[in-house]
Amino acid sequence: VTVHLVGAGPGDPDLLTLRAARLLASADVVVHDRLAAGVLSMVSPWAELIDVGKRHGDSHTQESINALLVELGRRHECVVRLKGGDPYVFGRGGEEAMALTEAGIGWEVVPGVSAAISAPAAAGVPVTHRLLADSFTVVTGHRAAEASTDWAALAQAGGTLVVVMGVAQRAEIAAALMAAGLDGDTPVAAVCDGCTPRQRTVRTTLAELGAAPVDAPATIVIGAVAALDLHGDIALAARSGRHASAMMDG
Ligand SMILES: C[S@@+](CC[C@H](N)C(=O)[O-])C[C@H]1O[C@@H](n2cnc3c(N)ncnc32)[C@H](O)[C@@H]1O
Repeated sequence: VTVHLVGAGPGDPDLLTLRAARLLASADVVVHDRLAAGVLSMVSPWAELIDVGKRHGDSHTQESINALLVELGRRHECVVRLKGGDPYVFGRGGEEAMALTEAGIGWEVVPGVSAAISAPAAAGVPVTHRLLADSFTVVTGHRAAEASTDWAALAQAGGTLVVVMGVAQRAEIAAALMAAGLDGDTPVAAVCDGCTPRQRTVRTTLAELGAAPVDAPATIVIGAVAALDLHGDIALAARSGRHASAMMDG
């Protein structure tokens, strides 16, 4: 194995896996997205760092990143491709794996802690709860304008809806979910910069989501669990069962 597709977790270096930390300490070269400085500080000082974080108007297309990984995989013993969260959760890690296989380069995936579950957790929101939600669905909001996501089906599915990359389209997403029958009073928690020192949680409702001050990167949790704050007062009420059953009834 020469190329390691490594999940960097949501931003706190303490949430790297041990395997990720070991690889960062021994890599010859690390190809990374826009990631928290704390995570990058785990890279050995001797390693070459290549920033391919996609910004507006820059030249790092997915194809050029795939080609770079193949080239580096031919030249080095240990290449780390470091991606936020988990490499296969909206991370395009699958495309990079396919390009490496096609080129005959040995690779492995090192799963990471996805922001889809860890940002809510850090804000005191469990994505499932025995009394409130027995499933969760993770969906990208970034294709909301293309009408390629069946928001009506997601509204009917019940359980918790976790929207990533949904900040810009949040008003359209909320409107589509309400048009499909979700109550405007449905609780929403938008966790911005989760698991970093800048973490901020916006508590709102589906009807108010479009106007709520949410900044990217944010993970938007929609559903009964979004009313919980397990680090705050609501935790005590939920533990005694009062709050949770009130929400189930209401
Ligand atoms: C391209 S996706 C990559 C997801 C990543 N592979 C993962 O598993 O967490 C980027 C989106 O993840 C979410 N995200 C990433 N880091 C986050 C964080 N620290 N706090 C909240 N949401 C985050 C945001 O919705 C952001 O737009």
